[in-house]
Formats: sequence, C-alpha cells, structure tokens
Amino acid sequence: MKKIVITGAAGFLGSHLAQELIDRGNKVIGIDNFSTGHEENVMELLRHENYTFLKFDVTDPMVLELDELFAIEEIFHLASPASPKFYQEAPFETIAANTIGTKNMLDLAYREKASFLYTSTSEAYGDPEIHPQPETYRGNVNTWGPRACYDESKRLGEVYCYEYFQRYQIQAKVVRLFNTYSAGLRNDDGRVISNFVTQAISGEDITVYGDGSQTRSFCYVDDMVSALLLTMKSEQATGQIINLGNPTEYTILEVANLVKRLNSSNSKITFLPLPCDDPKVRRPMIDKAKRLIKWEPKTSLEEGLQKTIASYTEKRMEVQEKVVQS
Ligand SMILES: NC(=O)c1ccc[n+]([C@@H]2O[C@H](COP(=O)([O-])OP(=O)(O)OC[C@H]3O[C@@H](n4cnc5c(N)ncnc54)[C@H](O)[C@@H]3O)[C@@H](O)[C@H]2O)c1
Repeated sequence: MKKIVITGAAGFLGSHLAQELIDRGNKVIGIDNFSTGHEENVMELLRHENYTFLKFDVTDPMVLELDELFAIEEIFHLASPASPKFYQEAPFETIAANTIGTKNMLDLAYREKASFLYTSTSEAYGDPEIHPQPETYRGNVNTWGPRACYDESKRLGEVYCYEYFQRYQIQAKVVRLFNTYSAGLRNDDGRVISNFVTQAISGEDITVYGDGSQTRSFCYVDDMVSALLLTMKSEQATGQIINLGNPTEYTILEVANLVKRLNSSNSKITFLPLPCDDPKVRRPMIDKAKRLIKWEPKTSLEEGLQKTIASYTEKRMEVQEKVVQS
C-alpha cells in the first residue's frame, strides 16, 4: 500500500483519481481549498478508511508542516482552477496555485523523495499555429489577455518542475492534459461538455461560442485517470512532458449536435460571441504517450457522452425529487 497525496482532490479529476487509487488499495491524502471543488466530490471517499481529506491551500507554506504529509511516496499536483470561467474570476489565485503551489509541492517531493506529477494543460500551446500539437511545439500564448493567468502560470509551473528535476533530481513528470469530461464536472463549470449536457437536459438553448467551427478533442475521464497512473508509474516519463488526451477532433458545432441527438433534446442551438483568445483548433499528438507509457484512449466521444448524459439526468431527477419532497 502506497501513501499518495493528491492536491485539487475535491475537483473533477482529483476526485476520480482518488477513487481509483483507493480502489487499487492505496492510502490517499486529498488536499483542497474548495475554491472550485466541492464537498460532494469527497463525501463518498471520506467513508473509506484509507482516505484522508485536508482542507488546505497549497500556496500556504504551512502545508509542508501537515503531519499527514510525512512518509508519502507520490504526489499528484492537480490544484488549480481549470475552467476559464473560474480562473478568469480568480487570476491571482490561479497564478499562485500553479507557481507557489507547485513549488511547495516540489519542496514536499524533495523532502519525502516522492515521485511528482504535475497536471499542465493544452493551454500551454495557446492558440496553436501548429496542428495537431506535439510536445515539442513551443506554443502561441498571449501574455496580455484574460487566459494568460492560466496559460502562463501553467507554463511557469512546468519550469519549476524542470528546475527541480535538473537541480535536485526530483522524479518529476509533467502532463499536458487536453479537454477531459464526464459526470462530476459542476453544472455551472462553464466548460463545453457540462454546458451542453446541462442545457440539453433542461431544454434550454445550447449555446455555441462563435460559429462553432473551432475544434476540440475530448477525453473521457476513465481514460485520463489510467493515463495519469501509468505516467506516475513510468520511469521513462521522469523528466518528460507528455500530452494526454483523445486525438479524435470535433468542431464545437458537431459536439452540440451530438449532445442534442443523444439526449433527444428539443433545445435550439444558438450562437454567442467567441471569447477573447479562444483557441481555434486543439488536438494532441499522443505518440509520446503511446511510446513511453503504452497508453491511448479507448472511449469514443459518443460512448462517453452517453454515460455523462445518463449521470447528469439521474442527478437532475434526484434534485427535482428533493424539491418535491421539501
Ligand atoms: N479537466 C480538464 O479538461 C483539464 C484540462 C487541462 C488541464 N487540467 C488540469 O487538471 C487539474 C484538475 O482539473 P479539474 O478539471 O479537476 O479542475 P477542478 O476545478 O474541478 O479541480 C481543481 C481543484 O483544485 C482546487 N484548488 C484550486 N486552487 C487550490 C489551492 N490553492 N489549494 C488547494 N486546492 C486548490 C479546487 O478547489 C478544485 O477542487 C488542474 O490543474 C487543471 O488545470 C484539466
């Protein structure tokens, strides 16, 4: 049994990852400040004797003094707002989580001789001029815009990992995640799949930004969690940056129509202005992941969306029943 730390544990990915690590017989210490995560995501896990949750901010240096963080073997550092809606509401907290927070967690890895995995992002490529994006592409990020707090702080988080790997031989691995989805994303998260599914289920208009010709590639959460675990396990992944995502690319309009069809929804598709610096295309090259961690995603968008829609529908019915009963 390994003792493993997950930061951002009350978030979408952190809670799925914690569940999988517990299921595999590990002891998990989850840390989160509930800035974008929520208690609902840890309630079930808290029942498990091998799960400990600490409400704490990873940017606070006292995090290193927490008794529970001694004798740990692995750190998955996920803590950071991830949805544009949330990181743009809290730019300084986002910058701090990815810089000071990453440094604190690397210091912890150094003290504990623990392996370290940092979840960077496809946003490190900005609005890419090379398509699809290989890890060697250096990106096209605007430092003077509303996405910069996230994109640039993730890039600086990567730099911290590089320096700790080079100078202190920390077993650091950086993964650049591309859009990942499933149940567990907040209804008000603002990311495309949660928006479309929530709108389709409730019969509201499905709102597409721009004309919907911009593309994205969507990875189902189970595939992503298995990739995170394989990366952490892989010695070859140490000191590397690896793209993780599903390389099948869709236009946003295709996704809106697919959600509408799978949900047999009467929602209309309507169009809103494209946000500033919204990437026009995004698709990972995953040859490096295939080579180093022997991974590629298995779940098609249609299959993943079916599961996601079923789960959102079930949750909506539970809420409606509670309202009727009260
Ligand atoms: N889900 C995706 O599609 C995606 C894509 C690219 C990168 N990522 C990265 O993966 C990680 C997890 O993303 P997610 O989708 O689960 O996002 P999320 O917002 O659901 O989860 C992030 C969690 O981090 C916590 N957090 C934020 N700042 C913190 C701090 N200072 N101290 C402690 N906790 C803090 C939040 O409360 C939240 O629970 C993030 O680092 C994100 O940038 C995710």
